Amino acid sequence: MTHRLHFTLNGQAISHPCDPDCRVIDLLREQMGLTGTKEGCGTGECGACTILVDGTPKLACLMVAAQLDGKSVETVESLEKSEEGRKILQAFVEHGAVQCGFCTPGMEMASLAMLRSGRPLDRMAIRSGLSGNLCRCTGYVKIVDAVAQACKGTDR
Ligand code: FES
Ligand code: FES
Repeated sequence: MTHRLHFTLNGQAISHPCDPDCRVIDLLREQMGLTGTKEGCGTGECGACTILVDGTPKLACLMVAAQLDGKSVETVESLEKSEEGRKILQAFVEHGAVQCGFCTPGMEMASLAMLRSGRPLDRMAIRSGLSGNLCRCTGYVKIVDAVAQACKGTDR
């Protein structure tokens, strides 16, 4: 069965025919060509596929296309378009918070939600905000350093 899906993707209105049961990770990567979002476990455990849906971090491997109808979706490809996103990108580079890079898109999207949340973000809060995102390379310290830097001077 094909369904016409209407949603906003990185600020652009989309009207797209697709199987409503198609996983969102496959919709993004294979049909939209947005390969920044990574699939690690495919079972909701690693956070590599984190995207924002109406501003909330969601796991694209656990969602189906029909759940996006009428929603606003942001992927890692949107980061360079906003000041807060560029702060995150720059901080990850400056702190060497990327090694293999597989976890990075999910980490950055979770970070974006934190920056926008208005919550005070000390290192404990940053670790808590990233607790659903696993990294096998960095040991997390540099990632927390990067998010802490990105949060500095954020008007919350
Ligand atoms: S790929 Fe979605 S949580 Fe691991
Ligand atoms: S940088 Fe390799 S998994 Fe995080």
